[in-house]
Amino acid sequence: MQGSHGLKERRRSWASLYAWQLSRGGDAPLFRQIYLEVRAAILSQDLRPGTKLPSTRQLAAQLKVSRSAVVSAYDQLLAEGYASSKVGSGSYVASDLPEPIEGRSARRGKRPAAARRAATAEVPLSRNFVDVTVQSEERPFNLGRTLVDARTMELWRRSSARVFRSLGQDHLGYSDPRGSLALRKAICDYLRAARAVRCEAEQIVVTAGTQHALDLIIRVLHRGDLQAWVEDPGYSLTRQALIAAGVRTRPIPVDGQGIDVAAGIRLAPKARAVFVTPSHQFPTGVALSMARRLALLDWAREGKAWIVEDDYASEFRYGGRALASLQGLDQGERVIYVGTLNKALFPGLRLGYAVVPPALLTAFITARYLIDRQPSSLGQAVIADFIEEGHFAAHLRRMRLQYRDQRDVLVTALRQRLGEVITVDAAPPRPALVMGFSGYPRRLIPPAVARLATALQA
Ligand SMILES: Cc1ncc(COP(=O)(O)O)c(C=O)c1O
Repeated sequence: MQGSHGLKERRRSWASLYAWQLSRGGDAPLFRQIYLEVRAAILSQDLRPGTKLPSTRQLAAQLKVSRSAVVSAYDQLLAEGYASSKVGSGSYVASDLPEPIEGRSARRGKRPAAARRAATAEVPLSRNFVDVTVQSEERPFNLGRTLVDARTMELWRRSSARVFRSLGQDHLGYSDPRGSLALRKAICDYLRAARAVRCEAEQIVVTAGTQHALDLIIRVLHRGDLQAWVEDPGYSLTRQALIAAGVRTRPIPVDGQGIDVAAGIRLAPKARAVFVTPSHQFPTGVALSMARRLALLDWAREGKAWIVEDDYASEFRYGGRALASLQGLDQGERVIYVGTLNKALFPGLRLGYAVVPPALLTAFITARYLIDRQPSSLGQAVIADFIEEGHFAAHLRRMRLQYRDQRDVLVTALRQRLGEVITVDAAPPRPALVMGFSGYPRRLIPPAVARLATALQA
């Protein structure tokens, strides 16, 4: 309790950081100028109800005026009810002021609807986008959610505690924009063993996840005239990132063998990049066939094009043998491999990586450096510890079983409830529902399917 009370007190004293200046009231007496300045900050709600005002001594020093002028200004604010005082504690913005104070707000008043619309229209990204600040975790069938178990949570806390205890100079300074060497080595070992990726730790750039890696790739490849194949249907955030950057996207059909490479060559021969999900095509779930893999690599080598392999879900394959990465087959160093720990562990982690071919490495590192210099040292240290202790491999083994079980419960419930009208499959595109099961405990799945069945049959 003591702690949270102390925190509240500190927050309340933010007014001492306010950029006070005397710009109001022109030739009016000094105390009135001060009164107008403080009142404007209160009316605009830059200083919220309950905020502690600076002491008269502090404010006088900040404004370089006599303390008596500030005392008179505060007396006026107290008399008019803008502020209240507590004996021995100082003066506060009155906590019973209406919110917002209509029509008088100097800085933060609501803009008319037309002005708000005009401001939104200036931002091209806001068009055609849902409100991305709203993310529903609770609803069943959302995609890309994870449900880490109690063991992982406990081990994650332990790794975090260990890292915090050993916090040292290594964590405090500027460092390699690619990320910590310890983490890059750990990722490299994992990718070689689990995904047959050909890599050295030097080629690995730690990112905040797939989306960040895509952004870096686009910055490196796009010189104003890039044309790129994207899977159709495909992952909409890849397409949206490309479009937002001004890349010309060419949708290439996906069938039961993955992206149709021959169609791509026919439809968009001038493309110099392709964004694919070969191990588990999003959203159909099909794997890119070996014949298509080889055709894609040939095309890239001959046309000096780049293949961006998004290997987002390779850790979780529940049936059949996983195909090794496309990058591992590449003799021509044309594949940029992108992986994420935000699926293998949990989306809030915001950690992923790219394995960058040598020809692009310097440009890639520079782009990363110019955006945000380097990844945060603490998050990296925790995940490196978690991997090195063997917890990551054990986590994947447990989660494979758990997610497979959740998938089986979902499939059984769907067949029971809707077996006559639907089939459940990884399949070539057709009208379909893509349903997530990894983020929901098995007990919630059958009732949710029952509600879905009612909705579909209505
Ligand atoms: C195709 C695909 N790639 C990558 C990701 C992961 O993205 P991130 O690492 O940015 O969370 C997702 C998540 O749903 C996805 O569906």
